[in-house]
Amino acid sequence: MVPRVKGTQDFLDLSLYNFVIDRMKKQLQFYHFVEIATPILESVDLFSRSLGLYTDVVTKEMFVIASADDEERICLRPEATASTVRAFIEHQVKPPWKVFSYGPMFRYERPQKGRFRQFHQINIEIIGAAALEQDVQLIKMLDRFFHEQLLLNNYALLLNFLGCFDDRKTYQLLLKDFLQGPRAGDICSMCLERKERNIMRIFDCKNPLCQKIYQNAPYIADCLCKKCAKEWRQLQDQLSLLSISYAYQPTLVRGLDYYNKTVFEFVSKNLGAQNAFCGGGRYDQLVGQLGAKEDQPSLGAAIGIERLLLLLEPFKDQLPLEKLPALHVIMPLTPAQYSLALLLADELQAQNLCVDILLAGDSLKSMMRKANKMGAAYALILGEEEQQTKTVTIKNMITGQEERILQIKAAAFVRK
Ligand code: HAM
Repeated sequence: MVPRVKGTQDFLDLSLYNFVIDRMKKQLQFYHFVEIATPILESVDLFSRSLGLYTDVVTKEMFVIASADDEERICLRPEATASTVRAFIEHQVKPPWKVFSYGPMFRYERPQKGRFRQFHQINIEIIGAAALEQDVQLIKMLDRFFHEQLLLNNYALLLNFLGCFDDRKTYQLLLKDFLQGPRAGDICSMCLERKERNIMRIFDCKNPLCQKIYQNAPYIADCLCKKCAKEWRQLQDQLSLLSISYAYQPTLVRGLDYYNKTVFEFVSKNLGAQNAFCGGGRYDQLVGQLGAKEDQPSLGAAIGIERLLLLLEPFKDQLPLEKLPALHVIMPLTPAQYSLALLLADELQAQNLCVDILLAGDSLKSMMRKANKMGAAYALILGEEEQQTKTVTIKNMITGQEERILQIKAAAFVRK
C-alpha cells in the first residue's frame, strides 16, 4: 500500500466539517460578505513580497512546484490573504470588498496535533476599510460564531496592537537595543538569528530562558505614536462596548510581516501546543505593496478548520448536524428479482427517497442483518410471489412489523 503523504489527512466523515462551513457561510452572509475562490497555485513571489522574505512560511515552509518549462516559480498557497489581495488588484475591484473563501492551504511544517502540511482555512477579508469599528465588528462576528453557532466556551481572545509602520520601525530599534544589553548573550541561537532578520518573532521562542529574558523587554503597545495610542484605547473601549472579553497579549506579533495595528488570535487550552484556531489583524499597506496604485487599509482573519474540529469533536452530539435522510433497503430474494428491484429503487429515488439495493445474493437473514447495520428504516422484500402479484413486503426495521402492499404504493408508504 502507498500511504498518504506525511502531514495530510483523509476525511472519512465530513458531517462536522460541512456543518462548520455551512454555519460560517450563513453567518458571513448576514455580515454582508461575498464568497470567492482563488487558485491553489500561485506565484512564489506573491508570498515572498507579502508575508516577508524572512518569515518562517517563506523561508522554510513553501511547497514550491517545479514547472516543466521552469519559467514561473509556482507554489501551493500557504495562506489566502495574499491571494485575495492579488485578485482584488488584478480584477480592479472597487473597495470596500468584503469577501470570504475556504479551502486547503499548504505549509511544510513538522506535523503534530493540530498541525498539518495540508490544512484548511476559512479566510475572511475586508479590503478598503480604514475605520477601527471594522476591526471590532470582525472580531465580534468571529466571537459570535464560535460562541453562539458552535457553542464553544473553552477559548480566549488574545489581542495586541502593533501600531503604524513608523511605530514598528522605532520599536524594532528599541528591541534591538534591549537585545544588545547585558543579557543578550543568553538568548538562543534561533533568537540571535531572529534578532537580525525578523526581530519581533523573538517573542514566539519556546526556550524558557529566552522567555524569561523577554519578560523585561519593551512592548510595542507601550511605544505607540499619539495617533496609534488613541486608536488602541478606542479599540479596547469598543470591544468592551460590545461585551467582547479579551486578554491583552503584549508579545502577540503574529508570524507574517504584513500586519500593523490590530492583531488577534482565538486560542484554546484544549488544543495543546498549537493552540490558535483563528488569527488575523490589520494590513494597511499590503495592497500597495503588492502593486496597486493606491494603498487600501484592510483587515481579515483565517479560521483553522482542523483545530476547530478538534475542539468540536468531543461534543458534536450536542450540535444540530444535518440529519441524513431515512434509508430504505430493497432486498431481492433471488437474481430473478434484480431487475424489478432496480425499477422499484429508481421509482423511489425519483421521488427523493434514499434507497439502496442489496445485490450480493445473500440470504434474507443476512440481508436483514446488513440492513440493520446500515440503519435502515424500512426493508422492502421482493420475492417470487411479490413479483407475480406486483406487491412488495415492507418491514419496519424498528418495530419489526411487516405488511404486503402494491409496489406502486411503496413510496407513499415509506414516506409516512
Ligand atoms: P495564520 O495565523 O498563519 O494566519 O493561520 C490562521 C489559522 O490557520 C491558525 O490560527 C491555525 O488555526 C490555522 N493553521 C495555520 N497553520 C496550520 C497548520 N500547519 N496546520 C493546521 N492549521 C494551521 C493566516 O494564515 C492569515 N492569512 C490570516 C489573515 C487573514 N490575516 C488577515 N487576513
